[in-house]
Amino acid sequence: MSQQQPQGAMWAGRFESGMSDALRAISFSLHFDRKLLPYDVRGSQAHARSLGRLGVVSPDEVESIVSGLEGILSDVLEGKDLFLPSDEDVHMAVERVLSDRVGAPGRKLHTGRSRNDQVATAFRLYVRDNCRRIHGQLLSLQRAVLDIARERKDTVMAGYTHMQQAQPVTLGHYLLSLYFALERDRARFLQARERAGRNPLGAGALAGSAFPVDRRAVAAELGFDGVTENSIDAVSHRDWTLEFLSACAILGTTLSRYAEDFVTWSASEFGYVTFSDRYTTGSSMMPNKKNPDGFELARGKCGRLVGNLTALMTTVKGAPLTYSRDLQEDKEPVFDSAETVSVLLGIFDGALRDAKWHPDRMKSRLTDLLLATDLADYLVEDGIPFRDAHHLVGALVGEATRSAKGLLDLPDSAWQDLPGGLSMRGKLSFESSLARRNIEGGTGPVSVANQLAAAGASLAKADAIQAELDKGGF
Ligand code: ARG
Repeated sequence: MSQQQPQGAMWAGRFESGMSDALRAISFSLHFDRKLLPYDVRGSQAHARSLGRLGVVSPDEVESIVSGLEGILSDVLEGKDLFLPSDEDVHMAVERVLSDRVGAPGRKLHTGRSRNDQVATAFRLYVRDNCRRIHGQLLSLQRAVLDIARERKDTVMAGYTHMQQAQPVTLGHYLLSLYFALERDRARFLQARERAGRNPLGAGALAGSAFPVDRRAVAAELGFDGVTENSIDAVSHRDWTLEFLSACAILGTTLSRYAEDFVTWSASEFGYVTFSDRYTTGSSMMPNKKNPDGFELARGKCGRLVGNLTALMTTVKGAPLTYSRDLQEDKEPVFDSAETVSVLLGIFDGALRDAKWHPDRMKSRLTDLLLATDLADYLVEDGIPFRDAHHLVGALVGEATRSAKGLLDLPDSAWQDLPGGLSMRGKLSFESSLARRNIEGGTGPVSVANQLAAAGASLAKADAIQAELDKGGF
């Protein structure tokens, strides 16, 4: 076991020997938390200004800290590698580089601050920024879905339950279901952003900073909506990361279900849709294959989104208050989910915009058994109790399936047994089935037009929200 020089670490004052390789392997986090660099820099700049207002550092020192941090950020963004293997995490790395570059002012930066409130601040900014970004991507996908729904508002297709043809719907109505599901996903990211929206800086290690920094001014500078109410809560809990991960996992389940349908619909047995070459792959062996990998991977990636939520829930659950090092495990699941969700949204957005839909094929797959419920409803309108009507139509359906015919192809004799007889047969059509469903939220043309209008209005509102978020930086 090799021993590091104790003076290598910024906290090494009380230590006589260095850290074991085993501890170093589990403890050092720079390789992943360097993603927090821009957020750490903004947090530290705000803290420096706040120390300046207190007179703890001079205006010149504030200036050298703020511009020194800016220089570190731009150097790293340009690809310069400023960090050393001995840097424990991004926060220590930045402070070290700053101190190397600007001297004493750099060593004053950590006054009145702990890594505990520093990390909580940078990570909250990361989560908020990613909620903003994902919100924008969701909006773009919703726009794509709405455009196709508008175009396909009259395209009739079979609606399924239990993967069996159930009742006719329109493709527009189906796609609006995705639109409105995404609307709730979008709301969840706004809520997650809000939940991460209080400034923890000033909480110190756990008890509150002894330097009376103006926490509200720092909050305003960093775009937070307010300050955390309690210093112990501020550094201990990660419930806001769990909400973010939950929003990602739930969005994953939304996308996975639709991906599953789209994969099925692209199979030759269905042939409802063809995906472009940009979102499909070939087979290494079978020259005939064109596989919908984009949607398959979208479905598959849902597993890790749910896994990330489960992992962090489990970690947070056991960690004693206030800060325990367990909490460092919060970063990787959040980074992974944020990045995974972005990729999935990109796939859906692009693949759906490129997709070719095949209304003729959808039509050719309609069986008139889809109209069985309507037939029962017509009987009800003639005064027959629904349960009896259901039974009568069931018998007719049984006859049709036994003779491998459609309902409408059954001989007159079969229809004559039904109360109302042949006149009932004349009423059945896919168009009339849709037209009877103009109930709010239904698949009827008026209802679908209303849904399209409501969706258009919500999209306009969401655009305004996005513009507001983008103005605020994080
Ligand atoms: N990298 C650590 C984290 O993300 C920093 C916090 C360390 N704090 C401490 N008190 N040791 O949790």
